[in-house]
Order: sequence, then C-alpha cells, then structure tokens
Amino acid sequence: MASSIDIGGYFELEIPKANTLVSTTNTMVQNQSSSGLLKSGRIALKTITQLASIKELRIPYFGCQVIEDVLKASDISYSFYEIDDQLEIIDPTYTVDIHYLYINYFGLKRQYARNLSESLKDNVIIDNTHDFLGASDHFKLSWSFNSMRKFFGVPDGAQLSCPNQQPLDLNTFSRNSQVSFDHLVDRLEYGAQRGYHAFQKNELSLGGDIERSSVFSETILKSIAFDSIRDIRMRNYLYLHERLAETNEFNPHLLELTPGSTPFSYPYLPSTSLTHEYCWGKKLYASRLWPECINISPNPLERRLAGHVIHLPVDHRYNNEVMDQIVKIVTDYGE
Ligand SMILES: Cc1ncc(COP(=O)(O)O)c(C=O)c1O
Repeated sequence: MASSIDIGGYFELEIPKANTLVSTTNTMVQNQSSSGLLKSGRIALKTITQLASIKELRIPYFGCQVIEDVLKASDISYSFYEIDDQLEIIDPTYTVDIHYLYINYFGLKRQYARNLSESLKDNVIIDNTHDFLGASDHFKLSWSFNSMRKFFGVPDGAQLSCPNQQPLDLNTFSRNSQVSFDHLVDRLEYGAQRGYHAFQKNELSLGGDIERSSVFSETILKSIAFDSIRDIRMRNYLYLHERLAETNEFNPHLLELTPGSTPFSYPYLPSTSLTHEYCWGKKLYASRLWPECINISPNPLERRLAGHVIHLPVDHRYNNEVMDQIVKIVTDYGE
C-alpha cells in the first residue's frame, strides 16, 4: 500500500519543531491549530457571519476597511458606532437581536473586550487582530478571531474561536490556493522596500473564498516561543512609553499595560506636528491605521486618531538599541 506522505528524497525547508521551544502559550496555539487555521482575519470574519447567521452588524467607524468589504460582499447590513477616548463603545445597546464587532485596539483593550463578552455573549465578535495571544478563554462566551501576519513573518493564518469553545472542523475547506512567500524572502534578504509590491500582492489575495491557511504558516507558527515574543513586545513598549509618554497625547489610562498584554505597537499621538511621512523618510516604517475613517466618521476624535496616531514598532525583531533610534527620530523632529 502507498504511504499517504512522501518518505525520503530531498529535504523540505528546515523549521525547528515546537517541542524544542516549550511554552505554555504556544501549546494553546498548537491545540487550536490542530483543528486548523483559516487564511486571514477577513475570512475568519466571513466564516463567523455564516456560522452565526448574522444579518446585521454594528461595526466601529474607527476600523479596518476590509471589515466593511466582507460585509458588503456577503450582503450583510451594517451600521457604525462611535468610540470614546478610551477606545470604548459609546452607549452600546444590549439587546438580543443586535450583533457588535469590537476591535481589541492595539492589544490594549483586553479587559474591556472581556467585559463586553460577558455582557453581550455570542452577540459580540471580538476582533483580536491586534492581540494574537488574546486567548479565546478570555472571551469564551463570544466569537473571536486574530490574524497571524500582524505579528509574524508568515504569509497567512488566522484563529477563529466559537462561543463556549465549540470545536470547529475546518478540514472540509481547501488550503490557501495563492500563498506566496516572495515578500517575506525579499524583506529578509534586501530590506523593507524591495518586497513591498509582493507584500501588497499577497495582501490582496487574502479575501475571497473560505480557505484554510497554508501548511507553511501553520508549521512556522508551531515553532515559535510565544511567551518570549510577548515579553519582548512588552519590554519594548514600556521602554518607549518611559521616554515618550510626556509627549504622547493619548489618554494615559489607555496606555497602561495590563499584565499579560501583547501590544501590537506603541500608539503615539504626538503633541508636535510629527507625521508618518517624516518617519517613513527616516526609514522608520510606522503604520497609520485607518486613514479611510477620516472620510466617514462624524467624530472629531476618531478622525484625529485615524490621521495622526503613529504606530511605533515594538516587535520581537528589536531591542533597546533600536528603541533608542526610534526615540531619537521622534524627539529630534522638534515642534
Ligand atoms: C482591525 C482589523 N480587523 C480585521 C482585519 C483583517 O485581517 P486580515 O488582513 O488578516 O484579513 C484587519 C487587517 O487587515 C484589521 O486591522
């Protein structure tokens, strides 16, 4: 009888196996990914709307355009809500027939998202694209999803958790049919600019049909020591906060890290006229989220956040020395 796997022959890309990098949190991810990862956050959201038979959803003005794109493509009605300076929903309505999507902004709103989950139960979808370790048991009454590309050099992958941790068998779906690694290799070999076109091409391929992630991403993710990655992100965040808090006009309460947080970035709302373009010109590729909100939100605070928050990187590639370079770029700018 033929074996179901290819045995012998030339070697596949070498990736260390998870059991050489023991951590409690990657066990969590392995357990979930044993039932599979979906291709992307947007596909996880699409899957949730189908599983929960959602006909109508309340989404934030201050959010990602692809959320709206998913709802439009699936013919789901939606309306927008506003948030306050703590990035919390202004006057949520707690009734059985209203579904919300709430973004755990920048990985800083885990406690609020948990409270929301307890109040709204399976009527809320927690968007954890900014908190990859926002373990589903924190939001166990609700739907939640994340997006692995926001934290790691993988081409795809997103976890989806159902209310009450009901298991979800993704084996009926095929694998990502357009997976591409060019941007990841170019970023490694040549720096950020050369691979940008390939990066955008990969981003565009992440919608469409419901598909599982590539085996490549699942294998890489199983090799990662998530605890140490979280610790580095926290350390870098606190290092920047110590040096930039005085000139950061975000609500100080929001910027306090709760234990176990995995911040997405250090969100910096400068008291000066520092711009994203200035940072990019200094090769500091700090992202801007989400400029399209400027055209749709009636709320001046949200428009300001969308235009001016500079997401300073705090990820595991970097140490104090790089954080010092970031601080220097930001503070040298002046007024
Ligand atoms: C808040 C938010 N939700 C959902 C998504 C969609 O995730 P993905 O790009 O993995 O589809 C994104 C990013 O694009 C996002 O920023």
